[in-house]
Amino acid sequence: MTGVLKVEKAKHVAIIMDGNGRWAQQRGRPRLIGHHAGARRIRDVLESCPRLGVKYLTIFAFSTENWKRTQEEVAGLMSLFRRYILREAKNLKKNGVRVRFIGDRLRLENSLVELMDNLEMMTSDNDLVHLTIAINYGGRDEVARAAQRLAYDVKAGRLAPKEINEETLPKYLDTHVLPDPDLLIRTSGEARISNFLLWQTAYSEYDFVDTLWPDFTSNMFEEALRRYTERTRRFGGVLI
Ligand code: FPP
Repeated sequence: MTGVLKVEKAKHVAIIMDGNGRWAQQRGRPRLIGHHAGARRIRDVLESCPRLGVKYLTIFAFSTENWKRTQEEVAGLMSLFRRYILREAKNLKKNGVRVRFIGDRLRLENSLVELMDNLEMMTSDNDLVHLTIAINYGGRDEVARAAQRLAYDVKAGRLAPKEINEETLPKYLDTHVLPDPDLLIRTSGEARISNFLLWQTAYSEYDFVDTLWPDFTSNMFEEALRRYTERTRRFGGVLI
């Protein structure tokens, strides 16, 4: 029997879109200009997903730590999220994208949460690509919130302590309907995970690219996916 190497494509890709601030700084512009340029890059990458076999794309838009930034930058980002939803909603629906948001919504303004809920609802019948946007998200915070909900279930008798294990705990995470990411890309040359999807990336491949997020193209995305298949070819390939 001839051996055929089975190369698995990355089905779920997570991205830490880093470097917006530096991109703006390099141009002598305010940091928010970098975030606006960064927001425009999402469409290109997202639209290339079906062609590249990526079914799930999860992007880190605002972390639980990002509140420490200046009030001006935080407010600018929140208004950018609103504008993104208003501007892209129709397109996302039309293009078969199902949008979900992860993170703690309690600290977000009601007007933003309403737009988020509405976009989730509007796109809930779509299944071509699943876009998950992390806003006020932190991996530790997510696990802590999951533990809290789990404790309530134990207290109410819905779950026995001995039933808490690697299968039941992730059901309480924000990402409970998503598979774990195969690949995590971080732009801008930083090689850190920064509290993103801590539980879910336990076995993910990491790819750190030097390009700042506003310069990241769908070609670079395709390259990262190619590197991923090479890695799985070496370490995860199976002879069938
Ligand atoms: C990190 O770059 C980026 C962020 C904290 C915000 C990410 C937001 C976007 C890409 C745009 C908006 C997103 C949506 C979903 C509309 P940084 O500011 O930390 O860059 P730096 O490290 O160069 O300072």
